[in-house]
Amino acid sequence: MKTAITEMFGIEHPIIQGGMHMVGYAEMAAAVSNAGGLGTITALSVGSPKDLANEIARCRDMTDKPFAVNLTFLPIVNTPDYPGFVKAIIEGGVKAVETAGRNPAQVMPYLKDAGISVIHKCTSVRHALKAQEIGCDAVSVDGFECGGHPGEDDIPNMVLLPRAADELEIPFVSSGGQADGRSLVASLAMGAQGMNMGTRFLCTQEAPVHQNVKDAIVAASELDTRLVMRPLRNTERVMTNDAVERLIEKEKELGDKITFNDVINEVAGVYPKIMKDGDMDAGAWSCGMVAGLINDIPTCQQLIDRIMTEADEIITKRLGGFLAA
Ligand SMILES: Cc1cc2nc3c(=O)[nH]c(=O)nc-3n(C[C@H](O)[C@H](O)[C@H](O)COP(=O)(O)O)c2cc1C
Repeated sequence: MKTAITEMFGIEHPIIQGGMHMVGYAEMAAAVSNAGGLGTITALSVGSPKDLANEIARCRDMTDKPFAVNLTFLPIVNTPDYPGFVKAIIEGGVKAVETAGRNPAQVMPYLKDAGISVIHKCTSVRHALKAQEIGCDAVSVDGFECGGHPGEDDIPNMVLLPRAADELEIPFVSSGGQADGRSLVASLAMGAQGMNMGTRFLCTQEAPVHQNVKDAIVAASELDTRLVMRPLRNTERVMTNDAVERLIEKEKELGDKITFNDVINEVAGVYPKIMKDGDMDAGAWSCGMVAGLINDIPTCQQLIDRIMTEADEIITKRLGGFLAA
């Protein structure tokens, strides 16, 4: 399939794996890229800029296809060494960067001078327009369904994607709730040029996480995610578990008096326990409503091939059939 996104990133299929904390290592990115999509290494999970340079080199050993690096700009006190990460990306010859969190204006001149294509992930049309204004090449439009941070507007993709199509001049991909060929065709129909997936790629053979994480996603339905940290204006969609229910109780009790310190046990330092040790009640971990559509743990190649076959059938047979006299 050929779209503005496959052309921009030099990939076979318009499918991107979004950055995922403690998941987006070289193994994950290479598996997606080898299957014809765009895999993404998550810079902040890897450690220092030197570690990122090593991770990029490791990924290059595993694939000769293009892959991206995610730079997430977090509202945290100890600012990560973003200039160092950008240097590692440029010196590592990476040609695609996914930015997320805050506006990436601070890194744009360096990335653009190095000929890197930047796709900014955002959850509203106004942020997408800002990304366009500061020179991003594409945006990833992350709807309310998404795993991770859906923002505070709560607009699902059925409205957000056509709104983005009406306003944007640069190409965009859908993100949030995407899982299969139906998702891809629907995204294309609503004006996107491809789709971005997190939770679906987390539940693949190659995702370098504990088996318990994948089993939990397969077992979950679309009713099993919760929104946490809304009172802190840092809303995150997570899989429910004991720690998350405890956190929600605290949010109810403390109301707008709540501070980050009140929820620190349920959200800080949780990812290694979940992703590496498989301790599924350790705290809040990002997961999308799309878990309800995930019933297996395929390889990335099987997943992407299946999506493309399904999309082809929907476009040529099902939809085409409606037009037949
Ligand atoms: C476990 C997990 C961790 C994530 N970590 C990050 C991250 O560090 N940075 C980021 O930009 N997005 C992160 N995301 C969001 C994804 O890149 C993607 O936008 C989102 O998962 C799309 O929604 P979906 O899960 O419905 O596919 C994460 C998502 C998941 C499921």
